Amino acid sequence: TNQTLSRDEKLQAICQFLNENVAHYNWVGFYFANHENKTLHLGPYVGAPTDHTEIPFGKGICGQVAESNANFVVPDVAAQDNYIACSFTVKSEIVVPLFVNGINIGQIDIDSHVLDPFTEEDERFLEFVNSEVAELF
Ligand code: SME
Repeated sequence: TNQTLSRDEKLQAICQFLNENVAHYNWVGFYFANHENKTLHLGPYVGAPTDHTEIPFGKGICGQVAESNANFVVPDVAAQDNYIACSFTVKSEIVVPLFVNGINIGQIDIDSHVLDPFTEEDERFLEFVNSEVAELF
């Protein structure tokens, strides 16, 4: 039952739930910040395996959110110059920071195979998801 799940297993289940239940979510994962060496590290995820398990702050959409502490909605990844491609099937991306006690400890990262699918509803929803995830820390 739920109480026996580790934090990573819970995060994995959240990724799976989002990936299965929102049609335009095609890769869902968490990155976590190491503030000492300013890198992000891939945590639980669902979707195609990625080579980008470690991302320096400032690099790509994820790395920029590690520094800006703000949501980043990318309607068309082809229009971004500071972007790390994981798969040619990815057309758009949303990254929402994860705050624990006001500190940006990581982020939820979602890729879509659809062009320009993300709305303010996605932003509010993923902010809510992250506020719940924050309770696990
Ligand atoms: N596209 C991201 C890299 C992570 S993959 O989407 C899983 C970026 O530009 O930061």
